[in-house]
Amino acid sequence: MTNRAVIAIDGPAGTGKSSVSRRVATALGANYIDTGAMYRVATLRVLRAGVALDDAEAIDKATEGLTISVTNSPVKQIVLMDGEDVSGEIRGDDVTRSVSAVSAVPAVRTRLVQAQRDLAQSGLSVLEGRDIGTVVFPDADLKVFLTASPEARAQRRHDQNTAAGRDSDYATVLEDVIRRDHLDSTRSTSPLRPADDAVQVDTTDLGIEEVIAKLVELARRRIHGESSSEVKA
Ligand code: DC
Repeated sequence: MTNRAVIAIDGPAGTGKSSVSRRVATALGANYIDTGAMYRVATLRVLRAGVALDDAEAIDKATEGLTISVTNSPVKQIVLMDGEDVSGEIRGDDVTRSVSAVSAVPAVRTRLVQAQRDLAQSGLSVLEGRDIGTVVFPDADLKVFLTASPEARAQRRHDQNTAAGRDSDYATVLEDVIRRDHLDSTRSTSPLRPADDAVQVDTTDLGIEEVIAKLVELARRRIHGESSSEVKA
């Protein structure tokens, strides 16, 4: 018998996925695994290596042997790339613009998917990403797919940038949201799409508290229903 339980939270950028996933994990006493941060670290490694973004083989080589460590507290996330703190750098424009290309390389995905499975081997874990319910954990106890209109998502990203003191222009952010949606949902390896059995939640007009309350309740019901001993909270 396994003591592993997984909550998969997928969806495009700007749906409130990170805040929701982090808060749901805290409420349930679960591990929180931000898989997007892992793809961002791989991308930074590729950019530092000066490799062309259309050279899959060179991207594969540049990310070989990469060690990623992500630690989370309710207030701060610290991300290490081969021991170096890159928490700020992975959120910068260069990485954000290039991450779709790197995360489309099958060899990169194979490696990171394995690392994600290893991280969620035991206990209760909330994994946030694009392909958690479809590829990483198709047997997840609860699968959630968050959506929101592109305009609402661009506005949230823009507000986040401004709050973090980064230069931001709404029209450019909207363009980037649409471009990344297209790349993420049309790539041949693990395209962004809801699992057939995912609960879809449109967050365009929902407050974050409402979304969190709904998911915590769903998670408790699902996990209790299947095996109450698996709940850590
Ligand atoms: O959630 P985020 O914006 O930090 O994710 C960064 C990028 O990584 C995003 O463009 C898609 C990619 N990604 C992915 O392909 N698969 C995942 N499980 C998570 C993120």
